[in-house]
Amino acid sequence: MSSITLVDKLAELSQPGALPVLGLVAALLAWLLLKWHSYRKSTSKASLSKAQQPEKTEPFVTPLPEPLDDFDLQAKEPQLYRPFRHGPNFITMGIRKLNWNDWIQMDSYFMRYHDMKASELKKDIDAHVKYVDNEPTKDACFEVYEELTKYLTHRYPKIFRLEGNILHNDLTHEQFQYPAKTPTEAMASAALLVQDDLVIMVENDDGEYHLDAAAVCLPGFWRLREKFRMSLDTLHFEAGVPHYQAKLQKSMNRFFKALTPDRPVTRNNFFIQLDDGLHWSHRMGDQSGTEVASWATANSKGLKVDEIHFRSERQTLRRLPRSKAILFTIRTYFEPITAISKEPHVPGRLAEAIRTWDETVSVYKGKSHWDKILLPYLDEQDRLQKESGITDQQQEAEFPY
Ligand code: HEM
Repeated sequence: MSSITLVDKLAELSQPGALPVLGLVAALLAWLLLKWHSYRKSTSKASLSKAQQPEKTEPFVTPLPEPLDDFDLQAKEPQLYRPFRHGPNFITMGIRKLNWNDWIQMDSYFMRYHDMKASELKKDIDAHVKYVDNEPTKDACFEVYEELTKYLTHRYPKIFRLEGNILHNDLTHEQFQYPAKTPTEAMASAALLVQDDLVIMVENDDGEYHLDAAAVCLPGFWRLREKFRMSLDTLHFEAGVPHYQAKLQKSMNRFFKALTPDRPVTRNNFFIQLDDGLHWSHRMGDQSGTEVASWATANSKGLKVDEIHFRSERQTLRRLPRSKAILFTIRTYFEPITAISKEPHVPGRLAEAIRTWDETVSVYKGKSHWDKILLPYLDEQDRLQKESGITDQQQEAEFPY
């Protein structure tokens, strides 16, 4: 109805005998008011931005793992990853789907890792735990601690227990405040719960993922302060990762952007280390020094085969559902090379893999520092295995072995 008609109607109403008409107009006005109200409601909904509108789908909740009710930590040998193949061994992304049950692995080496981490944190917590002081990053630190607590209390109920505001580790008899009061407390507590190092990658305004928070106690060759705040690309360029630009950069960045909370992944790698330093390889440089440790600074003088260690990382990547940051876990498996060479097929396959590396990969892995000692040893062990018939009797498993 136009406003002129409404005014005309009101004028009519002021005439005598207009009472029945008055009732009609009142009904009409009530109808108009109702219409106006529902019109206002619908337009205010339409003007909300997409982000402000309530989510149509439920937010993702991390599935709880199946409990290992009879888990016996002392009896659980570290899972043996030997991620080198027959034939050419290229550096690749090599990611595989991760089953939620297997996110964090605990084994009989737990106390050794825990005690090393505790001693590193005691020595210098600021060197090992860092975060960027902004809301999304701080939230991600708390979320990591919450996600680990949920996982561990369900997966390993004989070891981890949450009672009120205290998270108990019945193995170490530690008690952790839950929830944590500060991001540092959250990350340091998280570090002591697991054998893994923890890195949080946050998307910055430049659209790239940066190492904006971490608890790193067992890195072997690098220091957290050297990598803190670096983007995914800078991290890999600085580390001299072979063929990064040509083979990895594009797909890794695409992968980081597309990763969803429901699709965690895992990957494995390996390095040859010149000594037995789980937290720090002292033959690569002084841990408290300022020089970046690398094969260029390595000292392999007088190296003996029983000093050489096989260092293999089991990494996992997942998008955290609340903060949307990406959590990168790095679990190091670390064995003397002489120990893993006793395993059927290992010396032969490892020597074969090393011999297929191109020059760039060989330099990155520091081959010239150890090949003259390691390769003859592996060849000899392989020969002995073949002579004894072990390799014929025992079938090889599948990658990552
Ligand atoms: C999809 C995820 C990733 C892929 C595919 C990837 C790939 C690689 C590759 C191929 C290397 C060479 C050694 C190896 O084979 O591992 C490497 C080294 C390295 N990556 Fe990544 N990376 C990923 C995520 C990350 C993240 C999130 C960080 C953050 C800390 C990181 C830090 C490093 C560092 C520091 C090295 C050098 C290690 C060393 O030489 O001591 N990477 N990465």
